[in-house]
Amino acid sequence: MRVAVVSILVVVAAVAAGCGAVKTVTSGDPAKGKVLFVQKCGACHILEAAKTQGTVGPNLDWAFGPDKEQGFDYSTIADVVRGQIAYPDTKPSTGKPGMTANLAHGQDAKDIAMFVAQCAAVPNCVAKPGTVSVDDLGAKS
Ligand code: HEC
Repeated sequence: MRVAVVSILVVVAAVAAGCGAVKTVTSGDPAKGKVLFVQKCGACHILEAAKTQGTVGPNLDWAFGPDKEQGFDYSTIADVVRGQIAYPDTKPSTGKPGMTANLAHGQDAKDIAMFVAQCAAVPNCVAKPGTVSVDDLGAKS
């Protein structure tokens, strides 16, 4: 299970880096990202901190919890989320519906990535308001 999750992360990051169309997420507003996540992502994804219940896509607490346990940088998680928004698997081999590409753009997509990086697998997470650096996400406020 752990190995599988890490390999997904590496593949998504590699795809994102290869295309070069989306840049590294350096900063954003996780509190805004939370609102956008509920609107644009929650219908398909469970993320406890956002209280969303969608089950079309993977549970994002489970997707990123192991990465956090293993000490991955939050910036890596933010980049994976940003890459996923731009380059999702729109037609999974399972035959189930895939994820629509580019559900959010520009700063909105970065804000969402910052929120997921900060709050995935942290059920009582309080999303940081205002623009913060990705390097400050893990720091206790
Ligand atoms: C129409 C349903 C749908 C919506 C809306 C949706 N997703 Fe997804 N998502 C999926 C599906 C299905 C997958 C699995 C296929 C894939 O990896 O692309 C997925 C995969 C993911 C993954 C990879 C998880 C893993 O285990 O590898 C992330 C991260 C993700 N979505 C984030 C988001 C974010 C952020 C949004 C909002 C901008 C969003 N999704 C909106 C259906 C959706």
